[in-house]
Amino acid sequence: MRILSGIQPSGDLHLGNYFAMMKRMIEWQENGDLFCFIVNYHALTSVRDKNILKKGTINAVIDFLALGINPEKSTFWVQSDVSEVTELNWILSTLTPMGLLERCHSYKDKISKGITPNHGVFAYPVLMAADILLFNAEVIPVGKDQKQHVEVARDIAIKFNNTYGETFVVPKPDIPKNIATVPGTDGSKMSKSYGNTISIFCDEKVLKKTVMGIVTDSKAVEDKKEPDQCNVFNILKLFLDDSEIKYWRDRYISGGLGYGEVKKYLFERIWAYFLPYRDRREKISKNIDYIFEVLDTGREKAKKIAVTVLDDVKTKIGLDYRY
Ligand code: ADP
Ligand code: TRP
Repeated sequence: MRILSGIQPSGDLHLGNYFAMMKRMIEWQENGDLFCFIVNYHALTSVRDKNILKKGTINAVIDFLALGINPEKSTFWVQSDVSEVTELNWILSTLTPMGLLERCHSYKDKISKGITPNHGVFAYPVLMAADILLFNAEVIPVGKDQKQHVEVARDIAIKFNNTYGETFVVPKPDIPKNIATVPGTDGSKMSKSYGNTISIFCDEKVLKKTVMGIVTDSKAVEDKKEPDQCNVFNILKLFLDDSEIKYWRDRYISGGLGYGEVKKYLFERIWAYFLPYRDRREKISKNIDYIFEVLDTGREKAKKIAVTVLDDVKTKIGLDYRY
């Protein structure tokens, strides 16, 4: 079974990215044909500084390698290294109804946050469909916020198949069952575009400061508290087993627990969880030749499939006009 997903290198990768996507991709690698890539064309919709984009791309590659992506067991590349995707993007966009894109929540959310949309932000789901369909991917592990985009890819695949004959595999989203949208430090969705993230690999002082800055209500220590309404608890839960969740839930409900104490504990859990990966990251980041070699191999593997699928599409729609 072919599993595919990507991540934007538009900032440091964070806990929402890790639990909803990266961790699950690494698990899929053991029993699926995993395709994982860093979507730098997508990041262009928001990043305007070339150095930030370059650095973000390499950092995301190193993060994935440190967390366990094995380039021998998977196909791992940078999106712009296989530029066939932009050609398919155009072809698919000519089949995509405007209404399908106008209904997308993520576009509407960005507008409501005051972000001025460029055409790329609006048309983004078409490029995402091209990413998926170009590689015949079947299962797409993403967080809940991306479910609708995978459904757009499904709609486009079905429309293409109905118009030109059976061509694309119709993909399915794989959404984590027990992980809702991870809240950011301000309580809205944790996202690189909202400046409210807890980065996986930031240094200790920054991590502590960020966690201590998570927004809570102003209840006093002795007050009874609502765990499920608390951003700190909702993040902490990601690191706890069932009995630990029960322990902290009871303490919230009983009163006598200050937010400062939970935040301090959350900081310790995050730090301890990523510590072994941090050491591995340090080693990998010093070996840039290895990193480029991995990406060269990934590009070759991905390109082979991309060229075959794109040729088939071009034949079916009449772009191969010579006879
Ligand atoms: P961001 O919104 O930070 O730019 P991406 O759009 O690159 O993140 O998302 C990469 C993956 O991480 C996607 O599968 C997305 O659904 C998931 N993801 C991002 N933020 C969250 C979050 N706060 N909670 C759950 N999943 C998330
Ligand atoms: N749009 C996704 C996000 O922001 C990233 C992405 C781009 C993606 N292309 C993809 C995810 C293809 C899955 C499959 O999170």
